Amino acid sequence: MIQSILFVCLGNICRSPSAEAVLRAKARDRGLDLTLDSAGTGDWHVGEPPYGPMQKAGAARGYDLSGLRARQVSVEDFYRFDLILAMDPSNYANLEALRPSDATARLEMLTDYLDEPGVGEVPDPYYTRDFDGTLALVERAAERVLDRLG
Ligand code: 4NP
Repeated sequence: MIQSILFVCLGNICRSPSAEAVLRAKARDRGLDLTLDSAGTGDWHVGEPPYGPMQKAGAARGYDLSGLRARQVSVEDFYRFDLILAMDPSNYANLEALRPSDATARLEMLTDYLDEPGVGEVPDPYYTRDFDGTLALVERAAERVLDRLG
């Protein structure tokens, strides 16, 4: 049974904190008690709040990202969480390289949950600048994740 989920992107200031906040809100709406967190494969933004334009786009859809702080993913995360969801194939490859052989966490892509053929990653709005589009995609995926958890 999945009770804890860690979302992982590159910087932990755009996609994964958004996924964490969206899942938290939707889990609460469904009365589900899940432990949720996010982290980045990189360490450039450790300790920083989510990127300003990402916070603004999140607030416009009702998500408060302001209290989140970036951290780097660690080997211990593979034992602490039931499920680790990567935002893109590069994040997935970096996590696979870090994953210990006796990891208890399952490693998957968030987009695996979308029934949208051809969508194989959550686009990075740090580069695309489409913060709202990324949030919309994360919202659709979040519903599917929660559907599967029951
Ligand atoms: P994220 O976006 O992985 O969705 O948090 C990024 C934010 C910052 C950088 C890369 C990706 N960066 O290189 O600073």
